Amino acid sequence: MPATVVMGGQWGDEGKGKLTDLLAASADIVVRANGGANAGHTVQTDQDTFALHLIPSGIFNQNCLSIVGAGVVVDPQKIIEEIDDLESRGVSLAPLRISARAHVVLPYHLFLDALDEAQRGEGSIGTTLRGIGPAYSDKTGRRGLRMAELIDTDVLRYRLSQELPRWNRVLERVYGAEIIDGDALFEELIRYSARLRPFVSETEPIVADALASGQRIIVECAQGAMLDIDYGTYPYVTSSSTSAAGACQGAGVPPMGVDRVLGVFKAYSTRVGAGPMPTELEDATGQLIRDRGHEYGTTTGRPRRTGWFDAVAARHVTRLNGISDIAVTLLDVFDVFETIQVCVAYDIDGEVVDTVPARADRLARARPIYEAVPGWRESTVNARRAEDLPQRALNYLSVIAERVGAPVSLVGVGPHRDQIVQLSVKPGTVVAGVGA
Ligand code: GDP
Ligand code: IMO
Ligand code: MG
Repeated sequence: MPATVVMGGQWGDEGKGKLTDLLAASADIVVRANGGANAGHTVQTDQDTFALHLIPSGIFNQNCLSIVGAGVVVDPQKIIEEIDDLESRGVSLAPLRISARAHVVLPYHLFLDALDEAQRGEGSIGTTLRGIGPAYSDKTGRRGLRMAELIDTDVLRYRLSQELPRWNRVLERVYGAEIIDGDALFEELIRYSARLRPFVSETEPIVADALASGQRIIVECAQGAMLDIDYGTYPYVTSSSTSAAGACQGAGVPPMGVDRVLGVFKAYSTRVGAGPMPTELEDATGQLIRDRGHEYGTTTGRPRRTGWFDAVAARHVTRLNGISDIAVTLLDVFDVFETIQVCVAYDIDGEVVDTVPARADRLARARPIYEAVPGWRESTVNARRAEDLPQRALNYLSVIAERVGAPVSLVGVGPHRDQIVQLSVKPGTVVAGVGA
C-alpha cells in the first residue's frame, strides 16, 4: 500500500502530531522526514499530553515502527531527554529507529544559531535556537556528522578533529566568542553515542521493503509549507524542505510511493517568529483566537501570532505540494464567533493578486481582501460525525475547500486524539441557505 504524507500547510503547529497519531493507528511505519528539535508535536491520549520534538508521533501505537528519517537533524541530548521522558511515563521505545544517515546537531550549532540571530539584529528570524540553520548548513556544506559517525568512537574522534578547529576559528575570529574544548565535547558525545547506538540503523531498506510488501507508511513532516526553504517566506523560513517532495526525500520514500498528501491547516492562521503574515490580527479578536486555541509555542512557549485563514497562501501551498485532501484543525476555536473572515486575495501596492509573491517585503505590504462567513455559535467539541456539525460550520469548511481547491476530509474539534470528525466536503459544495 502506498504512503501518506502528513504535512503542515501553514506556518507550523497545525496539528500534524495529532493527525499522525490518528493515522498511525492503522499504519505499519511512521517516518519523520525533516526538521529537528525545533518541532513540537502534541499528542493527547487518555493517559497524558505528550509534546514530541524528534520522536515520530507514531510512538503511541506500539504495532507501528517509528523511524527518524535521514532528512532529520538529530540533537542527541534532546532526543535522549525525550526517550527518558517517554520511558518514565510508560511509553515503550522498542519501535524507535534512527536513520544512520540523519545528521547530528552538535553543541556548536546551538551557539552558532544564537550568534547568527544576534548578528541579524532587527532582521532576526526568531528561530527556535535549536541549531537548525547551522546544522543544515553543515550538511549541505559537506561538513556535517551523521548518526552513523556519532556511534563509532574512532570515526567520531577523527571527524571532530577535522571539523572543530575550523568552527573554533570562526567562533573566535568572526564572532569573538569562546572556543569549544575538543576533549570535553568528545566526552559528551561519547555518552550520547552509547545511549543512542541501539536505536541507530540503516532504516532505508526497512522502508523500501515495507513499501514493496504493501505495508502502510505515514510520512510525518515538521514545520509548515510557508516555512519551506524554497517556497516559504524566505528568509523567514526554516532550513529544511517542509514540502511533500521534501517528505519523500527525508523519509526515503520514492515519489511514486505516495498516493495521499494530507495537508493539515488550522481553521485560522498562526505563526511563531518573524516574517510576513498578511492576515495577522493584533487586536482583541487575535487575542481571543490565542486564548481559545492556547496558542503558545510547544517548543519555546512563545505566544503565537494569530490571524484569519489565508486562502491565498493555502492555495499556493496546495498546488505546489499536490495536496490531495485537507485536515482542518481547531475548528472549535471559532465556536463563539459571530462572523469569520477568510482572506481570498491580497492588495499589494494597489494591485489585487491571488498568488504569493516571491519577495517577503512585498508580502509584508499585502493587505488582505476578505470574504465574510457566518459563524455557528454553538459547541462542536462533542461532534464525531459530519451530522453532528452545525450547518454553518460545514459551510465554513466548504468555503475553505472551494477557496483552497481540495476536499476537507478531517476536522479537529478539540486537542484529544478522539476529537476528530471524518467527512468529505468537496470544493463547490457550499451548503445552500447559509449565506453570509
Ligand atoms: P504540530 O506541530 O503541527 O503537531 O502542532 P502543535 O502540537 O505544535 O500545535 C497544535 C496545538 O493544537 C496542540 O496544542 C494540540 O494539542 C492542539 N490541537 C490539535 N488539534 C486541535 C483541535 O482540533 N482543537 C483544539 N482545540 N486543539 C487542537
Ligand atoms: P512544528 O513541526 C512553528 C519557525 C521558528 C522561526 C523559523 C526558523 O511544531 O510545526 P528554526 O529554529 O527552524 O531555524 O526557526 O521557523 N519554526 C516553527 N514554527 N512550528 C514549528 O514546528 C517550527 N519550527 C520552526 O519559529 O520562525
Ligand atoms: Mg508544533
